[in-house]
Amino acid sequence: MNHLSNNKARGSALTPLIGGIVILLAVLFFLVKLATSGYYSDVEASTPSATQTRIMPAGSVTMGDGTPVGQRTGEQIFNKICIQCHAADGNIPNAPRVTHNNEWAPRIAKGFETLFNNALNGFNAMPAKGGQADLTDDELKRAIAYMANQSGGNLEAPAVGAASGAAASGADASAASSAASDSAGAAAPAAVTASADGKKIFDTTCVACHGATSAIPNSPKITKNDEWAPRIKQGKETLFKHALEGFTGPGGSLMPAKGGNANLTDDEVKAAVTYMVNQSGGKI
Ligand code: HEC
Ligand code: HEC
Repeated sequence: MNHLSNNKARGSALTPLIGGIVILLAVLFFLVKLATSGYYSDVEASTPSATQTRIMPAGSVTMGDGTPVGQRTGEQIFNKICIQCHAADGNIPNAPRVTHNNEWAPRIAKGFETLFNNALNGFNAMPAKGGQADLTDDELKRAIAYMANQSGGNLEAPAVGAASGAAASGADASAASSAASDSAGAAAPAAVTASADGKKIFDTTCVACHGATSAIPNSPKITKNDEWAPRIKQGKETLFKHALEGFTGPGGSLMPAKGGNANLTDDEVKAAVTYMVNQSGGKI
C-alpha cells in the first residue's frame, strides 16, 4: 500500500520535470539555429535588414568579427574588401592582383605615399578606400602594405594599436598631403554630387564590372544592347533599386550596393544607371 503510493508520487513528480527538460532543449535548439543561420540567409536575401547591411553608412560597419574601427589588420581588410577586385585570381581590368609581382612592381615604384593617396581618394576604377568609407588612414595603409608585400614589395605600415591611432594620423602634420587629402576625401563626394554626372560615376566606379571589355561574369556590359535588353525590361525603378541596394543575380553574381562605393549619393548612382542604359539601347 505504502509502497505503491510512493511510486505514484515519484511518477507524478517526474512528469513535469521531463516535460521541462524537453521544452528547454527545444528552446536551445531554436536559439542555436537562429544564431548560426541568421547572418548568411540575411545577406543572401533581399530583406530590409540585408539591404541595411549592404548600405550601412560609414562608422557602423565592422568587419563582422567585432574588431573595432581603427584596429583592423591589413589582412582582415584585404580579405573583406580589397579581395573583391585585387584577388590573386581576380579579373577586374587594371586592378593589380595580389601575389602577381609583375603587376605590382610599377605600382610599388610610385612610392607608398602615392599609392596611399590614390587608394584614399580613388584612382580611375579604384574606388576611394575601396568603397569602405570607415577605413582609417592607418587601416588603409595596412591593407595596401599587406597586398604590396605579398607581391614583391616591402612597405612598412603603421602597427595595429599604435598610439597614434586613427584620429591622430589624420591630424599628423608630417603627412600634410595626407591631411589635405583627408579633407578632400570629405569634399570630393560633394563636388561630384553637384553635377551627378552619370558618365563620370560610371568611369570611376562602375566601369570595372560594366565596362564593354570587363571580364566580370554576368554583369551587363555597356553598349551591349542584348545584355541590357532583359534588364531594361524590368523598368528603371527596379534597376535603380538593384543598383542602390545591391542585387544577387540568379547565377549568384553580386552587384554590390552602389557599386561598392558607399560615398555615392542615390542621385549619382541613378545617373550612372541612366548613363549605362542609354548607351546600351535603352531610353530612361
Ligand atoms: C571595385 C574594385 C576595387 C576594390 C574593392 C578595391 N580596388 Fe584597389 N584598384 C582597383 C582598380 C581597378 C585599380 C587600378 C586603377 C588603375 O590603375 O587604373 C586599383 C588600384 C589600386 C592601387 C594602386 C594605385 C596606384 O597608384 O597605382 C592600390 C594601392 C589599391 N588599389 C588599393 C586598394 C585597397 C587597399 C583596397 C581595399 C581597401 C582596394 N584597393 C579595393 C579596384 C578596386
Ligand atoms: C564589382 C563589380 C560591379 C561593380 C563595381 C558594379 N556592378 Fe552593377 N552589376 C554587377 C553584376 C555582376 C551584375 C549582374 C548581377 C546578375 O544579374 O547576375 C550587375 C548588375 C547591375 C544592374 C542590373 C540590375 C538588374 O536588375 O538587372 C545595374 C542597373 C547595375 N549593375 C548598375 C551599376 C552601377 C550604376 C554601378 C556603378 C555605380 C555598378 N553597377 C557597379 C557587378 C558590378
